[in-house]
Amino acid sequence: MAKKIIFPEKFIWGAATSSYQIEGAWNKHGKGESTWDRFTHTPGNIKDNDTGDVADDHYNRWKKDIGLMKKIGLKAYRFSVSWPRILPAGRGKVNQKGLDFYSKLVDGLLEAGITPFVTLNHWDTPQALEDEGGWAVRSTAEAFVDYANIVSRTLGDRALGWITQNEPAVVAWLGFEIGVHAPGLRDYPKALRAAHHLLLSHGWAVPAIRRNSPNAEVGITLNVSWKTAASNGAMDLKLAKEGDGKWFRWFADPLYGQGYPSDMIEYFERQGALPGGMDFVQPGDMDVIAVPTDFIGLNYYTRQVSRAEDPDNDPQTVFPKPKTPENWTEMGWENYPDGLTGVLNRVYFNYQPLKIYITENGASYSTGPNENGDVPDELRTNYLRTHLAAAHRAIQAGVPLAGYFVWSLMDNFEWSYGYSQRFGIVWVDYQTQKRILKDSAKWYKTVIKKNGFQ
Ligand code: FCB
Repeated sequence: MAKKIIFPEKFIWGAATSSYQIEGAWNKHGKGESTWDRFTHTPGNIKDNDTGDVADDHYNRWKKDIGLMKKIGLKAYRFSVSWPRILPAGRGKVNQKGLDFYSKLVDGLLEAGITPFVTLNHWDTPQALEDEGGWAVRSTAEAFVDYANIVSRTLGDRALGWITQNEPAVVAWLGFEIGVHAPGLRDYPKALRAAHHLLLSHGWAVPAIRRNSPNAEVGITLNVSWKTAASNGAMDLKLAKEGDGKWFRWFADPLYGQGYPSDMIEYFERQGALPGGMDFVQPGDMDVIAVPTDFIGLNYYTRQVSRAEDPDNDPQTVFPKPKTPENWTEMGWENYPDGLTGVLNRVYFNYQPLKIYITENGASYSTGPNENGDVPDELRTNYLRTHLAAAHRAIQAGVPLAGYFVWSLMDNFEWSYGYSQRFGIVWVDYQTQKRILKDSAKWYKTVIKKNGFQ
C-alpha cells in the first residue's frame, strides 16, 4: 500500500485564476481597455482569434463560482484584480463599480470560509498606460503604486495574501521581447526595461500594501521551471545556465538583495539588449526591489532539457520522457514532478525566503464530460498527485512550503492558445457557461479534507 502523505497543519489548499482569463465583461461598468483586450482584438495574435470578451463570464457568475469553491472545500482562492476595471485610464479617476465588484467577491469568499489571495497584476495592464510606453517606462511603475494603494485600501481589511506581480519574466520576455503576449512587441532593449520596472513596481508597492493591510502577507510570484543540461558538456551547461539566468535569476537575485547577476548583464550585452548599459537603474532602485517580503510565490509546471545546437556537443545523457499523454500535457510541457522538489529546495537554499507558496501548478488536458456527465480526467489527477508528493518531499527536507494553489479553478482563456487548452479542475462549457466538477476536483476535495492522501 502506498505511503500516507500528510501535509503540515494549517497548510493552505487553494486554487488560482486571473481576471482576464475568467471575468469577461471586458467593457462593462466603466472598465477601461487592457493590453490584453487590444492584443486579442487584433486578428492573428491568438489561436482561432479567441478573446477574453466573455471568457467564463465570472464577472456575472462569481457567486456560483464561490459555490463551486465551497463544494471543493478550498481554504484559499487566488484571483487577480483587473487594473483597468479600477482605473480605466491607468491612473487618476477611480471606477467605483470596479472596486465594488472585488469587494463583494472578497466578502463572498470570507462568508464561504475561503481566504482571499489577491494578485494585483496578472498581465491585463491598462492600454492607456501602454500607449505611454507601458512597462518599458518608469511612470508605469509609479502608476502601479497608486493602483496598489487604492486596491489595498479597499480590500486590505479583509484580504490576507497579496501578490504584487505575476511572473514578471513572462511579461517582459513574451510580451516585449518575443511578442507572443500583449503588448506584442519585439524589442529586446525595451524588454529589459520592462523587467526592471516590473520589479521596481513591486518594491514600491509592498510598503503601501503593508500600510493598508497590516495583517496580511505580501509577496511576488515568479515562474520557475527545472532547467537541466542535456549533457555535462560545456555548451549544454552554458545554455542551461543562461536559460535559468534569463528566466529566473534575473528576477530572483535582485528581489533577494543580490543585485542583477553579472554573468547575465554580460549575456544581455552580447545579445544587444543593453544598448545604453543598465541606464534604467537609478540610485536606490536595487534597495527598493530588495524590500523584505513574507513569501515568494512560485509557479511550476515543467522542466526544460537544454541541448545546445552545436556539432561538438557531448553525448546526451539527460533525455526528456517519451511522448505519452501521462508524460506530456497538451501544452507540450513535460510532466516532471521531481523538478518541483528541485526548485523548492533550490529557491530555499539560494534565497532563504521566509515562506514559499506554490501559487500555480497544474496540467492542460482536454478530457470532457462522458455520457454520465462526469469528467474522468485521471491524467490531471495523476499530475496533481505526483506534484503534491514532490512538494511534500521538499517540506520533509525542511523547505517552508505553506500552501499550494492549483492552476486553475476552472477552464479558461489560455492566453495565446485561446480556449484550446484546459487547465481547470472544473469543466466549463463555453456555449452554456455550465460548470462541472471534474474528477480531479473531487479528488482534490478529499486531499483538502484529509490534509493529504495515500
Ligand atoms: C502561467 C500563467 C497562468 C496560466 C498558466 C498556464 O504562466 O500565470 O495565467 O496561463 O501559466
